[in-house]
Amino acid sequence: MRGVHAAITGLGSYLPSIEVTNAMLCEKIDSSDEWIRSRTGIRTRYWATPEETVEHMAIEAAKDAIKHAGITASEVGCVVVSTVSHLRQFPSLASGVAHGVGADDAGAFDISAGCAGFCYGLQLASGMIAAQDAQHVLVIAVERLSELVDQEDRNTSFLFGDGASAAVVSASDEPGIGPVVWGSDGSQKDTIRQSVSWADLQTDRDAWPVITMDGREVFRWAAYEMGPAAKKTLERAGVTAQDLDAFIPHQANLRITDELVKGLDLPERVVVARTITEHGNTSAVSVPLAMHQLLATGEAPAGGLALLLSFGTGLVWAGQVVRLPPAPPKAPTKAEGAIA
Ligand code: UT7
Repeated sequence: MRGVHAAITGLGSYLPSIEVTNAMLCEKIDSSDEWIRSRTGIRTRYWATPEETVEHMAIEAAKDAIKHAGITASEVGCVVVSTVSHLRQFPSLASGVAHGVGADDAGAFDISAGCAGFCYGLQLASGMIAAQDAQHVLVIAVERLSELVDQEDRNTSFLFGDGASAAVVSASDEPGIGPVVWGSDGSQKDTIRQSVSWADLQTDRDAWPVITMDGREVFRWAAYEMGPAAKKTLERAGVTAQDLDAFIPHQANLRITDELVKGLDLPERVVVARTITEHGNTSAVSVPLAMHQLLATGEAPAGGLALLLSFGTGLVWAGQVVRLPPAPPKAPTKAEGAIA
């Protein structure tokens, strides 16, 4: 066994093939491209075709991450998938993904922590490596929220995007993932939720569950509460904002990001992820997808220190300071054409 520290050693992402503009969505809601851009920063998002299932997107992202880490799938000890849009209660998505990438001997399970899911998965992976239960763990975030969005809901229809992003977390001699700071506030569990439970469909077949959200409340909560969480994450890692090279918060809303940046007193040179403009809010996918993008484009330095901060339905949150892996060979781009 190599050292019992953990570090991210590979990244891969998948953006599905339908590019959806604000104008397209405004055909179904009373809104405008200008309103959506100015209130959220979002210009486009990508939605999946029927063939681009959560399993397909997760496998494609995972294969790239494994390749980037320079390992073989058989070396992966566990596959952790974070998703809230896998529309089967069981089996887990992770077992099919493990098989799909060729990690047939790996443990596999799903986690549900909404938009915070990647950072939760990162913490689990770190723990498995510290306990020497695995040498490499695949942490995958995947969402196909387009299927759960009510396109006529003016509060949510423009916000969400689909996609997948994966990280290989490996044993390392040097610490590459700082201690997690996480939490939950179940008194707000109804602020972002599935509108009805699957059980309701037994009696009302028209009641397809969609995302409902008290956006204003979530915005206020994130803007006020996530600043202290970010600071605590830095403290727990024993670093200050001055030591950072990148800040990669969940891409929920550009204005939330701007609020967090204001409170963190980041040096000018720290690159801030603002990939929501292109990808929309991809829930748990957004942090690793943004990390991938910043590294591949050279905006963030490989080996640099990054503060990750994710938050969402629950309401739950988690953040870590991580050492950035080597740059992936190519930036995430939307898939071309239909899937065979
Ligand atoms: O990733 C999971 C976590 N989720 C989030 O972090 C989401 C956080 N919340 C948000 O991003 C924002 O609350 C939204 C983008 C959802 C909404 O933006 P807002 O700036 O909070 O809008 P608001 O709900 O406070 O509404 C402001 C105004 C209202 O009009 P009046 O009352 O001021 O005349 C709304 O009726 O904007 C109006 N409005 C819209 N106008 C055009 C609300 N939605 C729309 C719309 N198009 N789609």
